[in-house]
Amino acid sequence: QELKLSLEQIEKGGYEHFMLKEIFEQPKSVHDTMRGRLIVDEGVIKMAGIWDHIEKFKNANRIIIIACGTSWHAGLIGEYLIEEYARIPVEVEYASEFRYRNPIITDKDVVIAISQSGETADTMAALKLAKERGAFIYGICNVVDSSIARITDAGSYTHAGPEIGVASTKAFTAQLTILSLIALKLGKHNGNLGNAEFMSLIAELDAIPRKIEDVLGTTHELVQNIAKDFVSATNFLYLGRGYNYPAALEGALKLKEISYIHAEGYPAAEMKHGPIALIDENMPIVIIAPKKGHYDKIVSNVQEIKARKGKIIAVVNKGDTQVSAMADYVIEIPETSECFSPIVASVPLQLLAYYIAVYRGANVDQPRNLAKSVTVE
Ligand code: AGP
Repeated sequence: QELKLSLEQIEKGGYEHFMLKEIFEQPKSVHDTMRGRLIVDEGVIKMAGIWDHIEKFKNANRIIIIACGTSWHAGLIGEYLIEEYARIPVEVEYASEFRYRNPIITDKDVVIAISQSGETADTMAALKLAKERGAFIYGICNVVDSSIARITDAGSYTHAGPEIGVASTKAFTAQLTILSLIALKLGKHNGNLGNAEFMSLIAELDAIPRKIEDVLGTTHELVQNIAKDFVSATNFLYLGRGYNYPAALEGALKLKEISYIHAEGYPAAEMKHGPIALIDENMPIVIIAPKKGHYDKIVSNVQEIKARKGKIIAVVNKGDTQVSAMADYVIEIPETSECFSPIVASVPLQLLAYYIAVYRGANVDQPRNLAKSVTVE
């Protein structure tokens, strides 16, 4: 029997879509992003781009993170990380808004641009503006030698490897990895992060690839089955608090992009300021509820949803009882530090969006109306 394989099939490495392949590559892509940077035995984080310009970061009045889409979601988590550990004020801006609103920028600002492609027109234009006004600009790009990588003063590449699926997956978790490294490195350097806490956080970060591997192994089939029950859904809410609020936004974006189901992400506590009115027995709600991070508050949010008969899909830590008892579907992930939990929690949400889209017959890798890099306004 003749075996014919197209180049594309070979590139997909046996997976039906690039997106699934890229989801499964995350233990490696996160590991590759840390390789040579996180040296746990020596208790150091080596990042030449940061170290060579450490005075800029040390003396910065604030850090402004600029990005679009998924990269902007990574930026929001970056804000939590950098403010918590390095205690430097951070603002996160959509590049498209920043560039047109005559922002106040000085030479005491550090601007960090996050972009998988390094070619996003709005991010590029926002950076040019920041540069003109004297800010130091730092890039977190995936594509080596891309336009954004070239105009920045310094930067760190996410070594996620080529991302072909239009819906970003492994680039996102790699961006979170870089932002974690930056926050911990700055915090250690400026003395806001004590040695013991630093050591325990870097050991935890080092364990993330194994935890992603675990999630992929234990939740893949389960999430596939859950997805079957939501093929005809018309709406979805995604809720999380703290570090997992941006993870909720990202989960919703993934679903919108590839399955064309309307989905919104919200900070769980904002529910009562509006979205709670949407909840009835036809509303699926994905809730990210790891043990560390406002768990008790999330429990009461879940009670409120339950009372309105919403269909709850809960992402919880292994062994969870309280939220699990109220949820209609439970996805268990391993425990980690609160600040790294979005990296682990995002993986089943990527799988959920992927399988719902597949069962709806959507073109997962090339969703309608979307381009991998948005090089025009
Ligand atoms: C992600 O799934 C999207 N396709 C999109 O939001 C993307 O993240 C955005 O266009 C930014 O792209 P960039 O990271 O290449 O700049």
